[in-house]
Amino acid sequence: MLNFGILGTGRMAVRLGDLAAKSGHRVVMGSRDPARAREIAGKLGERVTGGAYSEAAACDIVMPALFIRDGAFEILKPFAEDVEGKIAVDIFNPFNDAYDDFTLPWDTSAAEELQRIWPGTRIVSTFKWPFWEAFENHEFEGGPMDVIYTGNDLAAKEVVLELFRASPWRFLDGGGLEQARFTERMTLFSGQLAARYGYLPRVGWRLLGEPWEAGVKDAYRDIVQRWDRA
Ligand SMILES: NC(=O)c1ccc[n+]([C@@H]2O[C@H](COP(=O)([O-])OP(=O)(O)OC[C@H]3O[C@@H](n4cnc5c(N)ncnc54)[C@H](OP(=O)(O)O)[C@@H]3O)[C@@H](O)[C@H]2O)c1
Repeated sequence: MLNFGILGTGRMAVRLGDLAAKSGHRVVMGSRDPARAREIAGKLGERVTGGAYSEAAACDIVMPALFIRDGAFEILKPFAEDVEGKIAVDIFNPFNDAYDDFTLPWDTSAAEELQRIWPGTRIVSTFKWPFWEAFENHEFEGGPMDVIYTGNDLAAKEVVLELFRASPWRFLDGGGLEQARFTERMTLFSGQLAARYGYLPRVGWRLLGEPWEAGVKDAYRDIVQRWDRA
């Protein structure tokens, strides 16, 4: 059983905390208001408890579920030592208040910025989508969506897959942490497309593909390894 701490008690915290609990793990939801966190956790079953941010940061796997625009990085900095050597799950999308652009420039990602704030962590970046509304009703006509994860530590990725193993969606390995520049921008772009076609917020990505000629996969092995190290 994994020990998962979440900083924040909002929409994603509740849903990913619930998913981890349903996957069989213990969850601590941390809040600025520990009493409220205990109340929220109480509705999520016996595996979920609530407390302060420090209690969540003391867990083996730690996930901030805050917004960068609300000052997340300033809130997280003081916990850098508490999370040293641990797995950190990054779900940040660096949206502005209007959700129509990012607060970070193109040549970085929230995942990489979190690595700067918490340099000692093994970051696995995932769940940039779906938007929270899809958790309750996760089925889509076109089949299950794909959730991409990125990160430089293969063992950490395996642990995070186990953490969320009850997920109704397929996980795809997107390569190294820097590849989060794609997943974050894909989220922004899916929002733009969904708004145009009237799908927002029920939208997600799915990779269509099928095995091609034998050996073709091997031809790309070197370049895939380069993306893994990116
Ligand atoms: N919403 C989505 O659909 C979605 C999808 C994928 C990824 N994400 C990412 O997940 C993260 C959390 O998103 P969310 O939608 O779950 O956020 P949310 O519902 O707004 O919750 C954010 C939490 O941040 C904490 N917080 C700390 N300082 C705050 C402040 N000054 N103002 C407001 N809240 C503050 C609050 O928890 P306490 O009061 O308990 O401390 C609050 O519950 C974001 O980085 C977002 O980009 C969101």
